[in-house]
Amino acid sequence: MTYETVLVERKGRTALVTLNRPKALNALNLQVMNEVVAATEELDRDPGIGCIVLTGSEKAFAAGADIKEMRPRSYMDMYLTDWFTAWDRLGALRTPTVAAVSGYALGGGCELAMLCDILLASDTAVFGQPEIKLGVIPGIGGSQRLTRAVGKAKAMELCLTGRTMDAAEAERAGLVSRVVPAAELLGEALAVAETVAGMSAPVAMMAKEAVNRAFETTLAEGVRFERRLFHAVFAVADQKEGMGAFVEKRPPVFGHR
Ligand code: HXC
Repeated sequence: MTYETVLVERKGRTALVTLNRPKALNALNLQVMNEVVAATEELDRDPGIGCIVLTGSEKAFAAGADIKEMRPRSYMDMYLTDWFTAWDRLGALRTPTVAAVSGYALGGGCELAMLCDILLASDTAVFGQPEIKLGVIPGIGGSQRLTRAVGKAKAMELCLTGRTMDAAEAERAGLVSRVVPAAELLGEALAVAETVAGMSAPVAMMAKEAVNRAFETTLAEGVRFERRLFHAVFAVADQKEGMGAFVEKRPPVFGHR
């Protein structure tokens, strides 16, 4: 399929999805949402793809949901169209995803980054949930995912005041896994994605599922879930390959899907 607001490139087993609405700082209107979801779901179905990188421009990963599009809407518009619910499908992809964030990741932009599995930031990244300054609250999971990522103290301050965090603060707070110089961000994100895509695809999916379960359940249930998946990986040929390669002192060659 072809898209107008996202660019999709395939690099071996890695796919790069770039938000491409530069004049609006990648503001997330319905078209962007539908195209990001459609493009990533298409990649998710492709057995040749083992990891998806989502990025924006140097100035803006995404400056939020599209304020101009939302401004005239009524409660009924929002409710009946179930506004933003399609974004949940991005978080439900089975293929691991990497957000490569440079510049503004505000409101829906921050929420979009948090929907991804690995979050890498450039030293120019700015994160925040400034919706309160517009008279609204986060609507793509920000109040929940930011709180789980950085804890109540910072999440509450950011959501109540609209204050933003720079990349260093976001890293200290645990929102991002690493900060790299802006010029190196994409290369680093693609390298991380290539590493993930080189692993056993079903085992990477299981690892993703297990980590995500931590956000949905109690510790005891989460550990039980992990244990069942751990047992299940012994039914995947890649377990024999990975452990065999270690013992034989050679690199493993994992099958994929
Ligand atoms: C629509 C946006 C936009 C947005 C920027 N633009 N952000 N359009 N929705 N979220 C547009 C501007 O209107 C402008 O277009 C162009 O992009 C460039 O933006 P400027 O403001 O001129 O750029 P700059 O001065 O560099 O400031 C950058 C910025 C600022 C600090 C990021 O644009 C900004 O504060 N944006 C809004 C950030 C925000 O509040 N995000 C949360 C959105 S609500 P024109 O054509 O006018 O020149 C959200 C909630 C989701 O995400 C769920 C709740 C409902």
